[in-house]
Amino acid sequence: MRRKLAAGNWKMNGLSPDLAEVETLLKTFKNPSVDLLLCPPATLLHRMAHLTADGAISVGGQDCHTATSGAHTGDISAEMLRDAGATAVILGHSERRTDHEEDSEQVRAKARAAHAVDLTAIICIGESLAQREAANTLDIIAGQLAASLPDIATAENLVIAYEPIWAIGTGKVPTLAQIGEVHDFIRTRLERRFGAGVGRGTRILYGGSVKPDNAAQIFRVPSVDGALVGGASLKAVDFSPIIKALEDSV
Ligand code: 13P
Repeated sequence: MRRKLAAGNWKMNGLSPDLAEVETLLKTFKNPSVDLLLCPPATLLHRMAHLTADGAISVGGQDCHTATSGAHTGDISAEMLRDAGATAVILGHSERRTDHEEDSEQVRAKARAAHAVDLTAIICIGESLAQREAANTLDIIAGQLAASLPDIATAENLVIAYEPIWAIGTGKVPTLAQIGEVHDFIRTRLERRFGAGVGRGTRILYGGSVKPDNAAQIFRVPSVDGALVGGASLKAVDFSPIIKALEDSV
């Protein structure tokens, strides 16, 4: 009932020539059995949306402002993302929480702004290594969920990405049992807060060092509905086998 999703977060990577990677993906995946999303830097968003308009790939932003417009130099509103062709936006990524001191209340306000213009909010949560070692993971996840999610959400306009901070860009991945535990916990919380329909229908992605050689086993965890992929989404040669592994898990 939940359609799986392979999402790529290009972070602050990508110049015009890299759009060729998207063309390769479009040729490889003409009719995929999973949803595909790429979130390029804002500078490439409009061109990527144009390129993928007739294809199976959707595009998304990596952040948006809480306001619709105004005097906020350097920022981008949800409406601007929508105008550029985005259908989704990543919010609350740990790199934004760290680099820009974003807190969960801001993430919640951004999610509201995204929903106001019909963008799907992909809300990122995850514990640090110190928090995991102190056995605080589930408490941290509960707190981030409670504060980061808007009060009203649907299974269509919300995606949760569980991204343990210590697994991002490090090559370290939690055990499958650890991933399963957190994903099951998140789903229980979603059901409690939004009801069974939204709780069961909302996709929960795993993110953090997903690579071609570990994707298949991660996707075997029943509560994993796909992945939010950083480094390995930049090249079609790396992202394609991850997408195929997700298709094979359906
Ligand atoms: P990596 O796949 O490079 O570890 O990044 C994960 C991530 O942060 C996706 O948002």
